[in-house]
Amino acid sequence: MDLAEVFEKHLQKNLIDIQTYHPYYKEALNFMLQAGGKRFRPVLLLSVVKAANPLLIPSALDAALAIEILHTYSLIHDDLPVMDDADLRRGKPTLHKKFDELTAVLVGDALNTHAFYILVKAALHNDVKIKLVQILSFNGGVHGMVHGQILDCHFEGEKLTLEELKTLHRNKTAKLIAASLEMGAVIANLGEEIEKNLYDFGLQLGLLFQIQDDIIDEIMSEAEAGKTTKNDALKNSFVNLLGLEGAIKEADALAKK
Ligand code: IPE
Ligand code: IPE
Ligand code: MG
Ligand code: MG
Ligand code: MG
Repeated sequence: MDLAEVFEKHLQKNLIDIQTYHPYYKEALNFMLQAGGKRFRPVLLLSVVKAANPLLIPSALDAALAIEILHTYSLIHDDLPVMDDADLRRGKPTLHKKFDELTAVLVGDALNTHAFYILVKAALHNDVKIKLVQILSFNGGVHGMVHGQILDCHFEGEKLTLEELKTLHRNKTAKLIAASLEMGAVIANLGEEIEKNLYDFGLQLGLLFQIQDDIIDEIMSEAEAGKTTKNDALKNSFVNLLGLEGAIKEADALAKK
């Protein structure tokens, strides 16, 4: 079984369970998690662990789940009318379309918190878990993804410089990808130097990932992408700043590097 399959099995076995008389709270919590997605971040984390010591994979699965849950929350909020106003995600209606905006806001909040609950309950040493909480909260919150999202939305329709654009996307996307690799290194106890090298590599990989995402928005249909596309007209996307050819060139250069 490859890592994506191992992860998928773990996720499906660990869907969120809650006793409630709310008619669809439980379904809404799990809807976007179950919808699928590339599972890029958990597979990155597990790849580092596998390379170092495959025996550690089972104990790393909850950390991989935590990062996927936090990422899924970010997508649910990203699609809200007040942010990107998108109707399709992971081949399914976005959460506010399937249910309503109130549900999407609160489910996003719940998944954000739940990611850390999963992490602290993982079968790992406490000192490892404290480091993992620090990495995920730093890169997924104030100093990472949320910073990127607020820049992304605030500067819609206002052209940023290439440096500002890179800062935006490093925060919005690259830091969580870098965090995935770093978390794998912490679980596998690879030492600070390798942790840092993997994190720095992740920032480059994450930037490449976002350039490709911006290209997807430009050239793919909704059916191909499984999400709303042609939605970046006002965004400081790499395609808007560099043109499609320029963005492809930048992606190629980063991929080589
Ligand atoms: C989309 O992330 C949002 C970005 C940060 C570019 P993914 O492309 O990883 O989305 P899923 O998880 O596969 O749905
Ligand atoms: C979103 O970036 C990044 C997140 C933090 C969720 P995008 O807005 O470009 O992601 P898509 O294209 O909607 O998946
Ligand atoms: Mg967005
Ligand atoms: Mg979006
Ligand atoms: Mg996009």
